[in-house]
Amino acid sequence: MNVLKRCIYGISIVSLASMNIQCKGDKKVEETKLEATATDSVSIAKSEFGKTAKGEQVDLYTLKNQKGMEVNIMTYGGIITSLKVPNKAGVSEEVVIGFSNLEQYTKDNPYFGALIGRYGNRIAKGKFTLDGKEYTLAANNGKNALHGGPEGFHRKVWTVEEAKSGANATLKLKYVSKDLEEGYPGNLTVFVTYTLNNDNSLDVLYEATTDKKTIVNLTQHSYFNLSGDFTKTILDDEVVIDADKLVPVDADLIPTGKLTDVTNTPFDFRKPRVIGKDIEAKDDQLIKGKGYDHCWVLNNQDKGDRFAASAYDPTSGRLLEVYTDQPGIQLYTGNFLDGTLPMRNGGTYAHRTGLCLETQHYPDSPNQKDFPSTVLSPGENYKTKTTFKFSVK
Ligand code: GLA
Repeated sequence: MNVLKRCIYGISIVSLASMNIQCKGDKKVEETKLEATATDSVSIAKSEFGKTAKGEQVDLYTLKNQKGMEVNIMTYGGIITSLKVPNKAGVSEEVVIGFSNLEQYTKDNPYFGALIGRYGNRIAKGKFTLDGKEYTLAANNGKNALHGGPEGFHRKVWTVEEAKSGANATLKLKYVSKDLEEGYPGNLTVFVTYTLNNDNSLDVLYEATTDKKTIVNLTQHSYFNLSGDFTKTILDDEVVIDADKLVPVDADLIPTGKLTDVTNTPFDFRKPRVIGKDIEAKDDQLIKGKGYDHCWVLNNQDKGDRFAASAYDPTSGRLLEVYTDQPGIQLYTGNFLDGTLPMRNGGTYAHRTGLCLETQHYPDSPNQKDFPSTVLSPGENYKTKTTFKFSVK
């Protein structure tokens, strides 16, 4: 036990039956299996991933179920670095874009696998007003603010509140965003809990409280390539989005304020639509987005957690379904991927080799009086859930 005491730190281990510990020096944990009992079906294990330039330690958690699904999440940015699920032949393969090492994640990259906050998507000119006071955010996307700013939540080391195995495995991460960090008012305490279930679904639960009125819109920025082959684009994927309306944007991808009907447009995904079918069409919105990079107004907003969207890769047979209680979902088809960022085992991520399904409130809501509010006040609890469910057909 002496060894355990010296080796384990910074984590509340809820249940512990088998451990495999190698100490480097006298305090490092190489790998800690946080497995509870023989009846547990979904396990979680911890290992070191590296150190940031500032010397902060970053850990990697591996959640693994008995149906061939394995998810790696690191404490830096709460980033999903790897997600493996079976294809129709039962072969588990990687389906998210990622890098092989921490250093690459700390360099400029388009939010691969990251938790996004305090405000996912764009805020026009990086400005908004709350109770008559104007706040200014960094303009990190032309004139606009994108995804919480240059550091956002995606470049922060989150602490681990809980890591436990059982009928499912959970990893609860915490980050406290200080008053006026990235320009946003209020100390915001955020918890994101990832839960891997034994039915090949991954839940992402977002919770937050504030001590001053602020705005919050959290999301997850994984890029999926369900084929398991990152040299292939996602253009053959069949996508469904349960939305009658779109949030159209201007040339800077800022909402015009109107919501438009998707009927008879390339944005009608109510029946399965192959992404590549119209992506190059001379459509004003597709031209502005350089492909799909839009937020849809999800149907059944009064129903709480419900089906929102799916993507299906016919070759591998992998189906990803997304469920959420959020009003919107951004489909981004990797239009800015340009073959400059390295794949894990050589080669680079080319144009449109991943797609994102980012559940969220509509972009620029703080400046759009007719959009659902993203304001969080002291005493209120921000709580929202999204599920990524994998299967084959
Ligand atoms: C979001 C945006 C895109 C792009 C990517 C990252 O999904 O909507 O326009 O900025 O993030 O490259």
